[in-house]
Amino acid sequence: MRHLIDIMDFSTEELQQLVDTANDIITQPAKYSELCRGKKLATLFFEPSTRTRLSFEAAMYELGGNVIGFSEANSSSAAKGESVADTAKTISCYADIIAMRHPKEGAPLVASANATIPVINAGDGGHNHPTQTLADLLTIYREKGRFDHLTIGLCGDLKFGRTVHSLIAAMSRYEGVKFVLISPEELKLPSYVKKEVLKARNIPYTQTTDLEAAMPELDILYMTRVQRERFFNEEDYLRLKDSYILTMDKLANAKRDLAILHPLPRVNEISVAIDADPRACYFKQVLNGKYMRMALILKLLKEAGTI
Ligand code: NCD
Repeated sequence: MRHLIDIMDFSTEELQQLVDTANDIITQPAKYSELCRGKKLATLFFEPSTRTRLSFEAAMYELGGNVIGFSEANSSSAAKGESVADTAKTISCYADIIAMRHPKEGAPLVASANATIPVINAGDGGHNHPTQTLADLLTIYREKGRFDHLTIGLCGDLKFGRTVHSLIAAMSRYEGVKFVLISPEELKLPSYVKKEVLKARNIPYTQTTDLEAAMPELDILYMTRVQRERFFNEEDYLRLKDSYILTMDKLANAKRDLAILHPLPRVNEISVAIDADPRACYFKQVLNGKYMRMALILKLLKEAGTI
């Protein structure tokens, strides 16, 4: 059974196939509108979500399928003490595929070991978020036409930001990619990501606290929210939350074809004035996420022999 728990579960060839399928869905949606007729996606969300859950639901509906699920832990038997393993076994009796978000790192992996249907990690704690990476990849490909030879700035909460960890892993497999890691001291990229991904693969990267100094060399700027829910105390959050606020004047030295991405939700990190700038790609990224989730559901259900 194929699952998507970590973005590295898929080869670069498979990621390219997903991008190609998503692009085909964009041009010929009618071709895809009945492919999941009679099939059910279960969305098991133990943590808040707007885009990820609703884009999974929209994706399944646009494939002609149905959706069941819950959007908060309190409305499921987790509130009674049920284990993730038992929940996964149970849902396998009702649905054809699971998308799970959980505050505990590794919970979707445990689910995949116990389910008899494909499991998709829709975000596990401060660890990984591979389907956001799928949205990021389609956005990068549509904006830049390639994945190689790009300088990617990641800015904000690189410690708890799970989307950053998955995106770095995915992009580290392409030639000529460089990373500029922009964060406050306390929110630097975890050393395990540096060691297991960047150093292990000999990927060039620099670390800085200065967004404006880094700006001129960037092809992509990936802004992130400071992850309040993962802090141990509110004071630290309040001190760090506005570390970076992207405003028009900070873009003065940026490349003219810079692509600005953000997984959203945005709090203060990007001034609303930037939304109208052609370099702002974050709402396109939202739409791209739906197409990539459609491509992903199709791939996993085909490999499982369900469709
Ligand atoms: C991200 C997440 O859940 O990690 N949101 C999303 O799925 N687009 C980013 C965030 O919450 O900051």
